[in-house]
Amino acid sequence: MTTTDATEESGYTSSYLADQHAGQLARLRTLERAFDPLSQAVFNQLDIAPKPAILDLGAGAGSLAGWLSKRYPDAMVTATDIDTRFLVDIPGLRVMTHNAATGDFPPASFDVVHVRALLCHLNEREDILTRAVTWVRSGGWLVIEDVSLQPSLRTANPVFRKVAQAGVTLLEQTVGSDMLWADTLPDGLRERGLARVGHRTLEGRIGDNSPADTFWAATTAQAEPALLKCGLLSQGDLDAMVNLRADPGFTETALTFISAWGQVLRNENGVRGRARVTAAKGMHNDQ
Ligand SMILES: C[S@@+](CC[C@H](N)C(=O)[O-])C[C@H]1O[C@@H](n2cnc3c(N)ncnc32)[C@H](O)[C@@H]1O
Repeated sequence: MTTTDATEESGYTSSYLADQHAGQLARLRTLERAFDPLSQAVFNQLDIAPKPAILDLGAGAGSLAGWLSKRYPDAMVTATDIDTRFLVDIPGLRVMTHNAATGDFPPASFDVVHVRALLCHLNEREDILTRAVTWVRSGGWLVIEDVSLQPSLRTANPVFRKVAQAGVTLLEQTVGSDMLWADTLPDGLRERGLARVGHRTLEGRIGDNSPADTFWAATTAQAEPALLKCGLLSQGDLDAMVNLRADPGFTETALTFISAWGQVLRNENGVRGRARVTAAKGMHNDQ
């Protein structure tokens, strides 16, 4: 197992999204409130081995890792992050400082590997996905979840469109994020030979005081100084967006929470999967 120093620089850790930002814990809580219901629904329909070893990679403030340790009381849940400052006082977790871009785990270490809202931000996302497959035991599951900002770029509203495009550009330029990468799921799991691949999505709106709205607003507020400094938006643009979001007549789809999962089945030739696709009630599964 390879671990790395928490102080190591990367696009994420030196950006406005990083954990040292004063508003970061509150912002991560807004993400958790928006995403946890989808993640929990996905785990509730997977058949997971008894006494599973579970990895939550880039666990953030740990709400899902904490839920997993309660949901599977016999499990060994490992929560990693490049910055573990928020992974404290959560019962049942093994917490580890680990850089997903450079750190590794021995082959077949876990029955479940879960990664949420991390890979879209890392340049090494495709390589990490490939390595994460090797960390899963045969019969175990890889669950990859991420946020797509695709819907916000399609809006007809000029104020929202300008702010959305600026946010995506800022993330690309200062973090290295690809905020449309989540739309490539679940194909990335099929391409890596996983079986019983499925996916589920949750639409996130702004202007309706929903958890997604709160997450969007918290992230945009945290980005404000960088948006202004990079010249992507003016204070007038930001004020116009605040007024628009407060307008009772305004609500729009801004983002999609995407969850994709697949089972790792190995034989003597390596990973093998099947790819017949069926769809059922918002939940899509290969059989
Ligand atoms: C947007 S947060 C998501 C947290 C959590 N997965 C969730 O969904 O609630 C991204 C997390 O990834 C961590 N992170 C960023 N770069 C990382 C890296 N190279 N390796 C591991 N974690 C990293 C950040 O510190 C942060 O906690």
